[in-house]
Amino acid sequence: MIESGSSRDVPSESSSPIGVAPLESIVCTQELRNRPLRSPEYEKETRAFEALASALADSPRTILQTLADKVFEVLNADSAGLSLLTKDEKRFYWAAVAGAWRPHIGATAPRNCAPCGDVLDHNTPMLFNHWERRYPQLSWAVPLADEGLLVPFYVNGKAVGTIWAIAHNSGRKFDAEDLRLLESMSRFASAAYQAVESIETLKFEIAAREKSDTALQELTDGLEIQVRIRTEELEQRNKEVKQLQEQLFKENIVLRQEIDKTSMFEEIVGSSEALRKVLLQVAKVGPTHSTVLITGETGTGKELIARAIHKRSPRSSCAFVSVNCAGIPSSLMASELFGHEKGAFTGAAQRRQGRFELADGGTIFLDEIGELSIETQVMLLRVLQEHEFERVGGSGPIRTDVRVIAATNRDLEVAIADGTFRADLFYRLNVFPLEVPAMRERRMDIPVLVEYFIHRYAKRAGKRIRGISQETLTLLQSYDWPGNIRELQNVIERAVILSDSNTLSIDKQWFSGRPLRPPAVSGAHTGELATVESETVKVALRQSKGRVAGPFGAATRLGVPPSTLESKIKALKLDKRLYKSE
Ligand SMILES: Nc1ncnc2c1ncn2[C@@H]1O[C@H](COP(=O)(O)OP(=O)(O)OP(=O)(O)O)[C@@H](O)[C@H]1O
Ligand SMILES: [Mg+2]
Repeated sequence: MIESGSSRDVPSESSSPIGVAPLESIVCTQELRNRPLRSPEYEKETRAFEALASALADSPRTILQTLADKVFEVLNADSAGLSLLTKDEKRFYWAAVAGAWRPHIGATAPRNCAPCGDVLDHNTPMLFNHWERRYPQLSWAVPLADEGLLVPFYVNGKAVGTIWAIAHNSGRKFDAEDLRLLESMSRFASAAYQAVESIETLKFEIAAREKSDTALQELTDGLEIQVRIRTEELEQRNKEVKQLQEQLFKENIVLRQEIDKTSMFEEIVGSSEALRKVLLQVAKVGPTHSTVLITGETGTGKELIARAIHKRSPRSSCAFVSVNCAGIPSSLMASELFGHEKGAFTGAAQRRQGRFELADGGTIFLDEIGELSIETQVMLLRVLQEHEFERVGGSGPIRTDVRVIAATNRDLEVAIADGTFRADLFYRLNVFPLEVPAMRERRMDIPVLVEYFIHRYAKRAGKRIRGISQETLTLLQSYDWPGNIRELQNVIERAVILSDSNTLSIDKQWFSGRPLRPPAVSGAHTGELATVESETVKVALRQSKGRVAGPFGAATRLGVPPSTLESKIKALKLDKRLYKSE
């Protein structure tokens, strides 16, 4: 970078450190012009450029050394080199050196006491004469410099160091042509250095880009793998959840079967003639596969009878599935009985088995069949006729092996006449009709049922209730029980809860306003009531094997004093010895 005029002159320093020669006393740049002119050495210059150009292909460090070598050669100097500012810009570093000073390559010098510092401060080329007078710290650089010609070295427009040529003896004097050559080479080297550096940066950026592209690709690949793995995991989990759901569903069925089995053991209590007749029929129809229609008033024990039939059938190890036809809305009845396919209707998120499918191999109990809608009756008819059905939204028939037991407290023949029940379905169901008697037709079962329920509810309530007074028993026997056994059961449960003593008593008020039969007249053991009383005592004697007194005696069972029972037995002309062997 040749600058014209006075800019090449060194500005005088107002003051210099004591003992140190001022800058103007060692700088003689002006002299260059006064020295004899030489014609330009373009050939040498071109060779130097060629050398630098070929170094371009290499790294910036090679360019710097090539530059030092070429300056040394072209300027015919004794030493030549390049000083670069360190990162903190406090020192110079001899990055490349050629000639006598070559061994000093890598040396450093403080910026503020080196000629390079002055050149950069003034941003102009300078010719120095015996600079050790100003920079004594550089005396280690031997042989000493007689003349030193320095030009700034720029990278990206910023002076980052100097290029220098040194003459160690007074015989070699630098001239204007030397300065032109040095500046020209400096410019070329700057451009080359910048180019290589940009290429390096570019290479670095490309490498970084490639690296980030690869990293991105790896990340994408990794993500894809993760997504695949997660999807597979989710699919697997879905499968497992489905399996679990099915398992749970089956377990529910098994559990239900278990519960059913447990309730199968619920006793049918009573020994009245009417009940015995029913149980005889149960024993006969149980082992068959016939459809049974159980009729009877509410609370008479129709479900209990249905379970007893199932229990006595070859299907007893399979499910007993109970459906309360009055408890399910008619719009849901078909799906409840026959199941549905996924998406068959709004809300059908999963395929669901119906009760007929669940009962396969076992028994389905259709309670309150009289409440079924006409549409469901049609579907039911098909199952009964063809032993197959279709799920709601399903595409094919499903065969099933289910025994049907139906129950109703309605008079189906009246319903047929009313047009609310299909006659063909009635005949399909009525294969084996079974009528469960009302409570009032089996009054003699009342004492034993009362005892059974007291035992059950006292145990549940943690109470000790030994019996019931004769007066209360008479009260219970004189009531008509429209709600049948269920009503009796509820009354006893309530009485047990309220009871404070070990003898159960029932408040007459509970039956006020309800039909009570006239109380039994003492001594008049005629008619139905006499029979009831006699049957009651007989049952108690049979259960206590003819014993009247004692904790397991008939008197305790009936809740009367033994002496009272003895006189009752006498009055009824019963022989208690007959029951000893039973
Ligand atoms: N013989 C009996 N021995 C003991 N408990 C009985 C007897 N009969 C019925 N029960 C009990 O009475 C209650 C009513 O019986 P169940 O539900 O079988 O009557 P239901 O005829 O089906 O009544 P509904 O017509 O109202 O459905 C049940 O708790 C049942 O256990
Ligand atoms: Mg019922």
